[in-house]
Amino acid sequence: MPDLDLSQPRQWISEAEGVAILTGAGISAESGVPTFRGAGGLWNNFRAEDLATPEAFARDPRLVWEWYDWRRGEIAKALPNPAHKALVQLEIRKRIFTLITQNVDGLHDRAGSGKILKLHGDIWRLRCLRCGANWPDRRVPLPKLPPHCQCGGVARPGVVWFGEPLPDGMMKEAEHAAAAARVFLVIGTSANVYPAAGLIPFARHSGARVIEINTGETPYTNLADCSLRGPAGEILPQLIG
Ligand code: OAD
Repeated sequence: MPDLDLSQPRQWISEAEGVAILTGAGISAESGVPTFRGAGGLWNNFRAEDLATPEAFARDPRLVWEWYDWRRGEIAKALPNPAHKALVQLEIRKRIFTLITQNVDGLHDRAGSGKILKLHGDIWRLRCLRCGANWPDRRVPLPKLPPHCQCGGVARPGVVWFGEPLPDGMMKEAEHAAAAARVFLVIGTSANVYPAAGLIPFARHSGARVIEINTGETPYTNLADCSLRGPAGEILPQLIG
C-alpha cells in the first residue's frame, strides 16, 4: 500500500450526505479482468473497430461473438475484490448514493451493490436484433455462436459499442446523481471515453469534491480535489472502512 494521507478525503466522504461514484475497468483489474488501455490492455491486442462497433457485428457476428464469449469466460473466473466490496459498505451508509459504472463485467452486482447505472450495458445480457427482446444469459461458453432469440432473430451482446448512444435516459440519471453528490469518487478509469468522462467536470462544476483513485494519471487528475495514486483494492477499504 502506498503511503498516502487519507485523512482529508476520509473526512469529506464521512461528512457527505450524498455520494456518487464513477468506476472503470481499473476497479476490476485486481480481480484479474483485463483493462482496455495501458499495460496488458485489450485495445493493445485487439482493434475496437473490428470487435466493438455495430458495423463489425453486421460484417461478422460470429467473430464479434467469439471475442465476447472469450471475455465472458475470463470474467466468469473473476471474483469481486476489496474495492467492489468497499463500495457496498459505502452504499449502506449513505442516504443519497449512486454507483455509475462503465464496466460490463457485473462484478459490482456480484459484490452486492444495489443502485448501479451501467452506462455501457452488461456483458451478461443479450438483445435480439429482430424483436428487441433483452434477457440475461450467464452460460459460459454459449452453446451456439451467434446466439439466437426465441423469435429466430440473431442476438447481440447487451453492451454499448463505439458510435452507439448510451441506454435511454441513463446519462440524464447519471448527471442528476453527479449534481446531487457532495463527493464524486472516480475510480480506475482512464477518463478517455465520452460521455462518461464528462461526468467528472460536470460533478466538479456542480459543487462536488472530486476524489480520484487510479494507479496512474488521467486527463482529470489536475481537476480533482484529491488524487490518490495506487491500486483501488488497497486504497478504497482504507478510505471507506
Ligand atoms: P481503461 O482501460 O481505459 O482505463 C483503466 C484505468 O484504470 C487506467 O487509468 C489505469 O491507470 C487504471 N487502473 C489499472 N489498474 C488499477 C487498479 N488496480 N486500481 C486503480 N486504477 C487502476 O478503462 P475505462 O476507463 O473503464 O467502453 O475505459 C472506458 C471504456 O473504454 C470502457 O467502458 C470500454 C472501453 O473501450 C466500451 O467498450 C464502449
